[in-house]
Amino acid sequence: MEYPLIIFLLAIFVLLASTFSSANAKICEHEFVVEAKPVKRLCKTHNRITVNGQYPGPTLEINNGDTLLVKVINKARYNVTIHWHGVRQMRTGWADGPEFVTQCPIRPGESYTYRFTVQGQEGTLWWHAHSSWLRATVYGALIIHPREGHPYPFPKPNRETPIILGEWWNANPIDVVRQATRTGAAPNVSDAYTINGQPGDLYNCSKKGTVVVPIDSGETNLLRVINAALNQPLFFTVANHKLTVVGADASYLKQFTTKVLMLGPGQTTDVLITGDQPPSRYYMAARAYQSAQNAPFDNTTTTAILQYNSRISHKNSVAKPLMPSLPAYNDTNTVTQFSRKFFSPRKVEVPTEIDQNLFFTVGLGLNRCPPNFSKKRCQGPNGTRFTASINNVSFVLPNNISILQAHQLGIPGVFTTDFPAQPPVKFDYTGNVSRSLWQPVPGTKAHKLKFGSRVQIVIQDTSIVTPENHPIHLHGYDFYIVAEGFGNFDAKKDTSKFNLVDPPLRNTVAVPVNGWAVIRFVADNPGAWLMHCHLDVHITWGLATILLVENGVGELQSIEPPPLDLPLC
Ligand code: C2O
Repeated sequence: MEYPLIIFLLAIFVLLASTFSSANAKICEHEFVVEAKPVKRLCKTHNRITVNGQYPGPTLEINNGDTLLVKVINKARYNVTIHWHGVRQMRTGWADGPEFVTQCPIRPGESYTYRFTVQGQEGTLWWHAHSSWLRATVYGALIIHPREGHPYPFPKPNRETPIILGEWWNANPIDVVRQATRTGAAPNVSDAYTINGQPGDLYNCSKKGTVVVPIDSGETNLLRVINAALNQPLFFTVANHKLTVVGADASYLKQFTTKVLMLGPGQTTDVLITGDQPPSRYYMAARAYQSAQNAPFDNTTTTAILQYNSRISHKNSVAKPLMPSLPAYNDTNTVTQFSRKFFSPRKVEVPTEIDQNLFFTVGLGLNRCPPNFSKKRCQGPNGTRFTASINNVSFVLPNNISILQAHQLGIPGVFTTDFPAQPPVKFDYTGNVSRSLWQPVPGTKAHKLKFGSRVQIVIQDTSIVTPENHPIHLHGYDFYIVAEGFGNFDAKKDTSKFNLVDPPLRNTVAVPVNGWAVIRFVADNPGAWLMHCHLDVHITWGLATILLVENGVGELQSIEPPPLDLPLC
């Protein structure tokens, strides 16, 4: 064949190949109008901030590889941003969403278009507001199906149902957090939990809206369970039915069966449920896992009804659904048993050499009342104010520009890069901690990571004020959870127990109460990434930090330029 002809055929081939691969990946465009809408719950009508008038907001469904383009129009009276929880946002940190971290908030009357591609993640993620406590009502599911024509790694379920667990306040959630910030006290607990926005018929005036999840005898339904609650880890179970866990945080897992799930806020779990029981009605129910001591919590139970469509006799359809038993509120044992069943489906590539070994203490604190504060503003325990920290730094957001913009534009004075790799003093983290260590230092500090560095973080709970199971979430990354344990982490004896073969891949780890978890990842995504406790009350108090991942070499290892419509402060 002649040389030019070969080149010509080659060019045609490349052209065809690229059209075929991009023919699979779609661009999905959506409009999110953030606006107040009347929402009737627990016997009264309340004005709540919603997306497109829906509570919960719209479910987005895409395929692995698709690009999302979501124009957010703010018609509410609050600043707002939207975070795509768990989406890796490779080089697109501008679309991540946490206010004053990757963008200034979208002000009332303004809009911003989030544009990003979801690549290599399959399963269930979600989106939520990342501004004050707006996510109490501004949230929804983000479902990522396999690439078109690709199967699930399990038999195709007959149905799929998102099960979004939430938390409802009769008061305006923004007022709840504002009052807590003013008084220094713990915020009021919620009045109800919800499943897909509905408290369920164990609450007053809630029978009518109770969510019904259909199933037929012999059918399998894929439940995509999301904990969107603000401040509460939750148990979830279904009467008389086994749950087969197949994935979490948009990564597949080695399948296992369980009667009960525990999800920290931020976490998702995909489970298969089969209609293998006598046709009838069964409650699915969620209530608190409460690991903190002497702290008030919402001890109510939300329910939905799993209802067999087929061969249901009239008698059964009106009978009271069967109620499952739930673990005790403080049943840490069940939580431990559950998390020990998490493995990746096969051998995975966990970094074995570590370039950055970090040790982060996470926990609460109490600030002495500042001299210029009145008593009214110090209503925490014994006239203090609640606080929280990582490595004794209580994180404070900037308020006139985002950290990512300051980083990109080289604007000084917004944040410092001296976030410590270890706590400033070593102490018995889970013991009786001296009061002199209860008061962290406020600061806007980031920890720098070189592009491509292999990172390990030991996340250690402290018993300051109270030990607690903290759902620690890292933006921009999935990480392997290589070990978990109780007490103080001891590198000498605990390192040998690391699972470097098939640990689970997640974006949020529920750090055991009075214990620790070890995560590993490769810093392959440049940007300013918020790492925080997903209990909103704790992020409000400062339980957060920034991992600032530098650009690598060349365009493909660098963050994209900021979009032109990035909101101004
Ligand atoms: Cu789901 Cu920083 O959030």
